[in-house]
Amino acid sequence: MNHLIEAHAKRLKLSWIREHYHEIEADSNQEYLLKLFEKEVQNREERKVNLLLSQAQLPKTGNQPFQWEHIQIPQGIDRESVLDGSFIQEKENLILYGGVGTGKTYLATLIVLNAIHRFGSKVKFFTVASLVNKLIDSNQKGSLPKFMKQIEQLDLLVLDELGYIPLHKEGAELLFQVISMCYENKSIVITTNLQFGQWNHVFGDPILTEAVIDRLIHHSHLLVFSGDSFRYKESLIQH
Ligand SMILES: Nc1ncnc2c1ncn2[C@@H]1O[C@H](COP(=O)(O)OP(=O)(O)O)[C@@H](O)[C@H]1O
Ligand SMILES: [Mg+2]
Repeated sequence: MNHLIEAHAKRLKLSWIREHYHEIEADSNQEYLLKLFEKEVQNREERKVNLLLSQAQLPKTGNQPFQWEHIQIPQGIDRESVLDGSFIQEKENLILYGGVGTGKTYLATLIVLNAIHRFGSKVKFFTVASLVNKLIDSNQKGSLPKFMKQIEQLDLLVLDELGYIPLHKEGAELLFQVISMCYENKSIVITTNLQFGQWNHVFGDPILTEAVIDRLIHHSHLLVFSGDSFRYKESLIQH
């Protein structure tokens, strides 16, 4: 009988039940069935979260509590709605601007973790450099439409470190295509060390730069990170 149970469970894709049904203890049929279903649902949700986490490709960060002291939050949004990702539901963007080591990448990562756990959001984290490399690569291999489609299916796109390297013409144009595609469709969180006035140095062309900024700042919140570098602070503590 056991192998039949397992075969049916397999066919119904009840993977937790298939492996563990015999471990459940219960006083009635209903209780047994309820416990089985509960465990199967729980297991599926965990697997879904793990899949979303691995697809998001987050960088490694610390696990200390996030400190907000030196972060200026504009009107229209607050700490809670930044962290809990409600801006994603509204398809709004966040621009995290400030110096190195002030927590931009850390905050972006925490936002992604919450969005996955709370809403099951599909997210992908890229540094601008890695996204642009991938775009150029797929363009050369003829797989750009496929790659664009993958981005289109996301709920949230994180673009980390805009400004560290200037882009070539092709890269700038492809990045603009991605930002345009996301416009009013999904959220972007972008971290940068450059004020808008300097974005020209990244995109290389004033008209393109203006078009990028225009799309990004519409429906967006600018958070300014003005503290000292945590990397510096932590190294002072350690040495
Ligand atoms: N506001 C903050 N609150 C708590 N930890 C922080 C904060 N800012 C930075 N850190 C710590 O310093 C590390 C580096 O910060 P990071 O987010 O990479 O800076 P940035 O992306 O702005 O250069 C983080 O992984 C975290 O451990
Ligand atoms: Mg960073």
